[in-house]
Amino acid sequence: MAALNILEIDGSRVEIFEGPDAACGSAARRIEEAIRKGVERRGKAVLGLATGATPIRLYEKLVEKHRAGGLSFRKVSTYNLDEYYPIGPCDTRSYRSFMVQHLFSHIDLPANQGHVFDGSVPEGAVEEHAKAFDGWIESDGGLDWQLLGLGRNAHIGFNEPSDLTVDKAIRLPSRAVELKAETRELYAEEFGGIDRVPTRALTVGVAQILAAKEIVVLAFGPNKAEPVAKSLLGPIVAAVPGSLLRTVAEKVVWMLDQDAARLLKV
Ligand code: GLP
Repeated sequence: MAALNILEIDGSRVEIFEGPDAACGSAARRIEEAIRKGVERRGKAVLGLATGATPIRLYEKLVEKHRAGGLSFRKVSTYNLDEYYPIGPCDTRSYRSFMVQHLFSHIDLPANQGHVFDGSVPEGAVEEHAKAFDGWIESDGGLDWQLLGLGRNAHIGFNEPSDLTVDKAIRLPSRAVELKAETRELYAEEFGGIDRVPTRALTVGVAQILAAKEIVVLAFGPNKAEPVAKSLLGPIVAAVPGSLLRTVAEKVVWMLDQDAARLLKV
């Protein structure tokens, strides 16, 4: 289904849909198109993927398209935005498990082309692993298409709010980070108490995200209205990581449901 409303806010395209299902249908068509273009242009497509509740319906749509026979991932490489640290890849709460459950086990993506940070690398190798992840993306020719969700504090990937200058924030590489208390609280139930939620994570850096040729942000539900409004209407600051996307506004599409768009006053 088409968007109910399309806006341009400070150079970014904002598409507002009746609900998450319609937005995910449209995002799935964008991914299909990115894959087709990438394969046509250079024999492969490189996608940046996200986890969380937001993209689950989108992954279902991709699986449906694959099963219907029209969409193959054989020439696709994927790079996930983030992973907790430390966490075992088989832990059901790991983002690796999430991707296997919701996408990888249902499609024809070759096993060595679906990349998620390894939350079980030794402590001394964490930074090296994060750096290597950036290296893999670059040696794959960079991201054709990046999918983003938005944290309630407007984080992108696990790039949490900070007091860095914008200039520094947009250059952040992939790295290990400390998670904010407000982020960990959201996962307390899943992990059986806040004390059990990992305090750290690995994230693709803001620089790599902004370098993608096309960026799609999905945000649904009333809890996302504030981070969406701050990201699109407030000042561009590292304290609101979503606002950093406006430094590359012309290649960003925000796909929202009506609840998440509520404070945009449309
Ligand atoms: C999580 C993840 C992000 C995700 C965001 C939104 O913390 N690190 O990659 O996009 O927060 O999650 P959700 O879609 O569940 O609201």
